[in-house]
Amino acid sequence: LEVLAVASEVFPLVKTGGLADVVGALPKALAREEVRLRTLVPGYRPVLAGLEGRKVIRRFDDWFGGPAELLSGEADGLPLFVLDAPHLYDRDGGPYADAQGRDFGDNAIRFAALARMGANIAQGCAPRYRPAVVQTHDWQAGLTAAYLHFDGGPRPGVVCTIHNLAFQGQFDRALLGRLGLGPEAFTPDGVEYYGDIGFLKAGVRLADRITTVSPTYAAEICTPQGGMGMDGLLRGRADRLSGIVNGVDTDVWDPAADPLIAAPFSATDLAGRAADKAALQERLHLDCDPGAPLFGVVSRLSWQKGVDLLAQALPTLIAHGGQLALLGSGDAALEGELLHAARTHPGRIACVLGYDEALAHQIQAGADAILVPSRFEPCGLTQLCAMRYGAVPVVARVGGLADTVIDAAPMALASGAATGVQFAPVEVAALEIALRRTIALYRDRPAWSRLQAQGLQTDVSWARPAKLYAELFADLVRERGG
Ligand code: ADP
Ligand code: GLC
Repeated sequence: LEVLAVASEVFPLVKTGGLADVVGALPKALAREEVRLRTLVPGYRPVLAGLEGRKVIRRFDDWFGGPAELLSGEADGLPLFVLDAPHLYDRDGGPYADAQGRDFGDNAIRFAALARMGANIAQGCAPRYRPAVVQTHDWQAGLTAAYLHFDGGPRPGVVCTIHNLAFQGQFDRALLGRLGLGPEAFTPDGVEYYGDIGFLKAGVRLADRITTVSPTYAAEICTPQGGMGMDGLLRGRADRLSGIVNGVDTDVWDPAADPLIAAPFSATDLAGRAADKAALQERLHLDCDPGAPLFGVVSRLSWQKGVDLLAQALPTLIAHGGQLALLGSGDAALEGELLHAARTHPGRIACVLGYDEALAHQIQAGADAILVPSRFEPCGLTQLCAMRYGAVPVVARVGGLADTVIDAAPMALASGAATGVQFAPVEVAALEIALRRTIALYRDRPAWSRLQAQGLQTDVSWARPAKLYAELFADLVRERGG
């Protein structure tokens, strides 16, 4: 089965969050299920720099305002199509924003251009390439479904995958013509969304299947509380909607062979973890105390992630002897608050602001517990990495966090099923209780070892999710008479 993915990020070339991890890892896992996945991504600078075996497939004199080339090649064994359009993607900054963090003013055009190319490839513009399914990731790829629908004619099945409903890609209706859409597209059954153009909305409305990254999040987005304005539409299409929990790339995240950590260890021999904890404490200037429960956080700093709640709960963490190693970047006010906490509690709280792949691995390897206090979380990957690395996840009971961590309630602990600590509601008081519970569990060595062992035994790989995606793709092809 041939599948075309359309995405705005792909690990290891360009990443702002878990989307890139998923887009980078899924093709390898699906290859084992006889699904060939090739991914179309924008030709940002790091993508072009990392592209091997580059071939020009098509040239365009005017692709949304400038010349462009469709390239094929690969990176790290990953088959890629790349839309090389310098006027859209050859810029300083990240994939969506400039170096100062301001969104690019022409993001509607930049990602319409990507989606339009996805649709063209789906319609056969690359010689000898005929995908049976197109999978679009998040709002950036959402218009693919609209182009295919309003062009009419034969098309592959379309799967719209939602990684985060908070980002919807909503733009001024005046752009309709520049996006290459006619007035017939601007209806509630097309791209119209509360008077604007909705990129993700178009995907959700027009795709054959909608997936998101956990069953609980799939249910949450059908409610007014979790639906962020799209719950009505999603409820109406609930029979087309499903949730498949993400995996992690177990080659990238392998504590037995991780070049980024101080000492390797494995599920059967955790001895190296002590050295990893000491190395982390030393690197971050935390007190070198092997017995202090060390909490780690690796996160974007945004309202979603609930790190502000953690900032308020820090006195409890400190009072009970805990330490915190936090790596994150995002909201400036929150960054300031965290730096202030670190200055107030030297040796106990360390905050590193920025993006640091190596430190992310070192925190997973050296922390005793990984905190994820998200207000909502479609799936979450750091709690999965934590289990793979013998750190105990302490999570809010929402979305994918609820689906992937089994709370250490007495029965679950006694039976050996528990893998971590959950708390609800997502408020400071409940988080404080979770911190106290976690520290009590940490001091109960047999209980803690059982939690770690159960996490380490949990399959967080892509093996099962890849099977579920392969089944979904095959189902869709069958339904469409392929
Ligand atoms: P989201 O996609 O919402 O940010 P996920 O938990 O799905 O959340 O994925 C986050 C990914 O980004 C993980 O691989 C995590 O390790 C990584 N990450 C987040 N913040 C940082 C950071 N500051 N430095 C390095 N890696 C980070
Ligand atoms: C989004 C979500 C996160 C999820 C990731 C990958 O960024 O916020 O929960 O794990 O996508 O699907």
